Amino acid sequence: MIKLSERLEIIANLIDENETMADIGTDHGFLPIALWERGICKKIILSDINKGPLEKASENIKATKHGIEFDLRLGNGLETILPREVSTLVIAGMGGALITEILAADLEKSKSFEKIILQPRNGQSKLRYWLLENGFNITKEELVKEGLYICEIIVAKPIYKESNENISWLGINFELPGIEMIKGNQLIREFVEKKIKTEKKIINKIISGGNKEFPLNNEKILRSEGRIIFMEKYLEKVDEKNGNHICGV
Ligand SMILES: C[S@@+](CC[C@H](N)C(=O)[O-])C[C@H]1O[C@@H](n2cnc3c(N)ncnc32)[C@H](O)[C@@H]1O
Repeated sequence: MIKLSERLEIIANLIDENETMADIGTDHGFLPIALWERGICKKIILSDINKGPLEKASENIKATKHGIEFDLRLGNGLETILPREVSTLVIAGMGGALITEILAADLEKSKSFEKIILQPRNGQSKLRYWLLENGFNITKEELVKEGLYICEIIVAKPIYKESNENISWLGINFELPGIEMIKGNQLIREFVEKKIKTEKKIINKIISGGNKEFPLNNEKILRSEGRIIFMEKYLEKVDEKNGNHICGV
């Protein structure tokens, strides 16, 4: 069994059983290996921009002798994963500016994950500011000593997911028929897709009119994004109920 440093141990403890996770900038791969050994995560992606670290991770995986194929991906930031492919992202051991850059490169994708665990080595204030300005809530913070340093660990969640238990502010839950009531009805997908299209049009309109009056991250965009996510999840449930196989995302 891999023994984690105190810093990685705290990050591991922020991941609950049955979450799926991607470790962006995994390097040695210790965190994913430990999560797998402990049976915490069913699905784990190890991603890094450099080949060397992935080879290192591969060696460490082999050394565990579990004979398991891990999902190793080579590429920049979130480019290696699909939206919603996992529930939890970890980006640890990098500068705050680089973490911000990785998240900002595709804001829509970044917001598609339920939980983001960040451990910036520096530039923490820039990162916190960016998160709060771009529709995330900081839901938990931890401090941990590593040698001479005190490391900061930040857990962030997209605002609409945070409000998920009480989504009435989105209004959308009252606008769709109960799935059980309309099970098997062929029109439901078309009905919901039309609504999703409308929300996307709203977002595009705000973005194309982007100026001081319509800042890009205003409440209306967040509301529409939240409604879209809710409706996409609704469609997944419809497919499950109707026994359809969903390909891709
Ligand atoms: C210091 S290591 C951190 C390792 C591990 N996450 C930890 O916290 O112990 C940083 C890793 O991030 C990778 N990295 C740097 N920029 C990246 C990017 N844009 N996308 C993915 N990985 C990146 C580096 O190759 C390196 O392996």
